Amino acid sequence: MLRMSRRKNWKTALIHSDAAVPQDFRSLNTPVHRASTVLFHRAADASEEWNQWEHGYTYGLYGTPTTLELAARVCELEGGRHTLITPGGQGAISLIHLALLKAGDHVLIPENIYGPNRKFANHVLCRFGVDVSYYPFDAGASIDTHFRSNTRVVWCENPGSVTMEIQDVPAIAEAAHRHGALVVLDNTWSAGIYFDAFAHGVDVTMQALTKYIGGHSDLLLGSITVRDPQLFERLGETHQVIGCPASPDDCSLALRGMKTMAVRLKQVEQTALELARWLSSRSEIERVLHPALPSCPGHDLWQRDFTGSTGLFSIIFHERFNKPQVQQFVDSLKLFKIGYSWGGVASLVMSYDLHSPKRPAYGSRIVRLYTGLEDPDDLKADLEQALAAMVS
Ligand SMILES: Cc1ncc(COP(=O)(O)O)c(C=O)c1O
Repeated sequence: MLRMSRRKNWKTALIHSDAAVPQDFRSLNTPVHRASTVLFHRAADASEEWNQWEHGYTYGLYGTPTTLELAARVCELEGGRHTLITPGGQGAISLIHLALLKAGDHVLIPENIYGPNRKFANHVLCRFGVDVSYYPFDAGASIDTHFRSNTRVVWCENPGSVTMEIQDVPAIAEAAHRHGALVVLDNTWSAGIYFDAFAHGVDVTMQALTKYIGGHSDLLLGSITVRDPQLFERLGETHQVIGCPASPDDCSLALRGMKTMAVRLKQVEQTALELARWLSSRSEIERVLHPALPSCPGHDLWQRDFTGSTGLFSIIFHERFNKPQVQQFVDSLKLFKIGYSWGGVASLVMSYDLHSPKRPAYGSRIVRLYTGLEDPDDLKADLEQALAAMVS
């Protein structure tokens, strides 16, 4: 505390106060530490190091204790050794690309990857001289033929975005490592819980914490977790200069969300399974793409590699339905709200129009559902009335 021989001017006191409050406050919650500037004890202590685990706190850009607490907890859940927090899931994706690839390298991406990941690869990486190519989502060990001498990174996403196919990650990892490439996984669907990325050969696992860890549709955050210290260095050095810090307020919300994640996950799993099974029996629905149902491509791999399922799945309407009818179904839903993202407490719906020759020909008959924490019977009734509105 600042002690001066004369009384401080009130304007100085506004900045450097002698006011004191009782110490030793103990609660169950992580405090929110907001800071750009971090104070050093002596000039000689000042450092611009980003790795605050190793060097102590140096600058708010690299995280405050709130950010690092979230990182440590995600790391614990995913069984990693180091975790970086980013301002969103897409931020984690771009950071991984930028940190692990350089001009002249080649990256392999599955056809069913999250759309903005593909966009980043096609629109940014290509401009910087990285070769980008796509492999079939069901490649498994046959991915071998897609490697080039300069392949450095192979992405996986399990299940794939919207079309929900499960990949054979261990077979892909085995081939990638034989070719000297790293395996990166988007592990968002499993919340980093139901798929053990490192046990299945993954080198870098990322999540949009926006979804299940945040859990309330009110924040955007991402995580990148690794076991290898050298990979952590490469990612951390890029994270430092990209200049995308996560807000400690958002990290605090994520830490709170995390505490209730077990009960939320259990409920969304049960509700999604109940509704997916019920939808499978409806004549309007040709196919339900839920990894825990045999109708989903890669279901056997889900059975082998996952320990549970979550709340996001897709349905394919029968061929007799056209786009306006499918949109009529979506518009008729009352509890399922139309919106992107998932993992919160409210049920959501989104229709798509998929016309890639490299993906199943679902066209505009595909609708993605996310089941939240509403009563399952109410959700079923909502789907039932929307199905009725569509055919009438
Ligand atoms: C599978 C997957 N990965 C990454 C992201 C990106 O996360 P964010 O919205 O936090 O940028 C999303 C968002 O929908 C996603 O579905």
